[in-house]
Amino acid sequence: MAMREDLLRVLPEIDLIEGAMLREGVAKTWEDGLSRGGWMPQDIERMPFTLAKKVNINFAQHVRSVTKICLAACETFDEIYQGKLALDHDILLAGALLHDVGKLLEMEESDGVFHKSAEGRLVRHPFSGVALADANGIPPEVQHIIGTHSKEGDPFKRTPEAVVVHLADFMNFDTIEG
Ligand SMILES: [Fe+2]
Repeated sequence: MAMREDLLRVLPEIDLIEGAMLREGVAKTWEDGLSRGGWMPQDIERMPFTLAKKVNINFAQHVRSVTKICLAACETFDEIYQGKLALDHDILLAGALLHDVGKLLEMEESDGVFHKSAEGRLVRHPFSGVALADANGIPPEVQHIIGTHSKEGDPFKRTPEAVVVHLADFMNFDTIEG
């Protein structure tokens, strides 16, 4: 299927999820968001990852960088802590890959300009991301990461995997001047 091939070319880290069911669910969630938002996989490489600042980093680069930083944290913990601080590899990767999937519904493009959709003004991407994930069979441990990755999650006690995604996300946002 062309959609799947293109998606995996744009977000190759989806293939790093070891569990076949979760890997499939993550791909399906992205495909669902793309079709509901009226996007093609290639658009992920054209969209800015945020509208909150003027950035020249695209959505795919943001998601891939957050995911690879989470993976590096997971591998470092395994190497140094020898099981005393173990993160769930697949839950962490799925959460990192899906944390911003709701932006496919939060953003719109008209005349080559990206802006917030009417829906996005009412339902921010952590919420629409959880809805997309739930509709595609993504487990609650991953929905928790999506729903708490942003400031909306601050009042809640985040799981260790959610803490890592939250901090990796802000590491890729607060470092950008703008
Ligand atoms: Fe986000």
